[in-house]
Amino acid sequence: MKIESYASNLERFRELYREVDRSEIMAAWDRCTNPNLHVYVHTPFCASVCKFCYYKGVEFDKRSEEALYRQYFDDYLPRTMEPFFPVIESKTVRNYFFGGGTPSLMSLETMEALFNRLPKFRETDSKTFEVHPAVWSREQIDLLADFGFSCCIVGVQSYDAEVLARQNRLYASPDSIHELVDYIKSKGMAVAGDLIYYMDRINADQIFAQDLEHAHDSGFDILSLQLNYDLLKKKHLNDRFFDLVMRSRIASDYIWEFEGERTLTVEYKQTLKCLRVIRKDVSREDYRDRFFNFIPTMDEGSKHLGKLGQRPSVIGFGSYRNPRKNTFSNIRDNDSLYEYIEVNDDWEPRHFVTYEWYEERYFDDAIAQLNELRELGPPPKGLRLCFENKLNVKNEDHIIREPDSQAVLSVVWDYRDESTDRYIDQLRLKFPHWKWNR
Ligand SMILES: C[S@@+](CC[C@H](N)C(=O)[O-])C[C@H]1O[C@@H](n2cnc3c(N)ncnc32)[C@H](O)[C@@H]1O
Ligand code: SF4
Repeated sequence: MKIESYASNLERFRELYREVDRSEIMAAWDRCTNPNLHVYVHTPFCASVCKFCYYKGVEFDKRSEEALYRQYFDDYLPRTMEPFFPVIESKTVRNYFFGGGTPSLMSLETMEALFNRLPKFRETDSKTFEVHPAVWSREQIDLLADFGFSCCIVGVQSYDAEVLARQNRLYASPDSIHELVDYIKSKGMAVAGDLIYYMDRINADQIFAQDLEHAHDSGFDILSLQLNYDLLKKKHLNDRFFDLVMRSRIASDYIWEFEGERTLTVEYKQTLKCLRVIRKDVSREDYRDRFFNFIPTMDEGSKHLGKLGQRPSVIGFGSYRNPRKNTFSNIRDNDSLYEYIEVNDDWEPRHFVTYEWYEERYFDDAIAQLNELRELGPPPKGLRLCFENKLNVKNEDHIIREPDSQAVLSVVWDYRDESTDRYIDQLRLKFPHWKWNR
């Protein structure tokens, strides 16, 4: 994807979302009764920008761009976070997550100052840090251990030097990755690794098969195995991905995160963005409560509807010229969800509300759609109207997903006869944009 100038991103955010000032967001947090909170802190910079990357950090050279670094970490980020500290103080923090971009680009001094600034930091059990395998130091890992981090995530992506070079990604040798994993473990933290299948088409199967073996040798506690997001809809690649994983040593020494609760099939895999596996000797309770407890809230809020109060809210901080909705927050209550993003183009944080969902609106939407059916009359016997509780988006494939209706109407039929056919024809005229499976 070619990234246009940032002004056009900002323009698009303005077109699609509602810009709000901080007081509206504060009021939404004040109304929130959900006691549980996840905190996300973003590093927007990367030493090189990988071609495959969905998130895209901003390319950054620490030696020549010291002023930019200082402006972000010493001024912008503290100034943006501070007004929200009372929100963090008032909740139970279930996880602190440092993601990016490349958080391991931070200096020791920056990390220490940041950790000391954040409320309830030491007492929070679950703390996660993303480490780029070519951008880290032992001292950083020592510091994470001193501050009681529970888990590091190492973005391996691939062990193959050539695919990484083609993708403009910094390379780390298998030995240095093994060393990093060992060092993190020796400091009492869990370590997870990310691998991507099919960054490009050259030798993709052979590379992934080798990567799975290297990852096994590295001894990761957890592995997040992903098919390149751009290709998730390709059935044959999901099949091959699944097959390569099942034929590797990972299949015998790791278990799927939902093992025993759901059956893993290739069809089910195709509905997942990522296949997460845990080494058999790692406690699943620790995985769920301390190492990877952020999973249910890591996606944008739009995917989680229904009664929401039991899942933590998310408060996210930090952004710099990010082309996507990188830093989002969502305020979840039992009957509402309010999602906003932070955008920074000129060192003043702007906030855009990206989704709002209120339980009562679901019913309003459902009634509005039923009203549209009035002129057709009630459906004939054999044909059922269904409402799915889902935030319908106008364009799934667009990088910015625009919310549409919250109650998604569909029809199903048990059999076809003259009267169902007539009704279906009328529905097709009225709702030509529905997906019609006949
Ligand atoms: C935002 S990145 C940050 C990781 C860190 N900068 C690094 O490179 O190690 C988080 C993860 O998203 C995943 N990711 C990014 N782009 C992807 C893509 N196109 N397909 C699948 N996974 C992707 C990668 O596995 C990556 O480790
Ligand atoms: S994969 Fe990591 S290092 Fe590469 S562009 Fe994405 S965030 Fe940056």
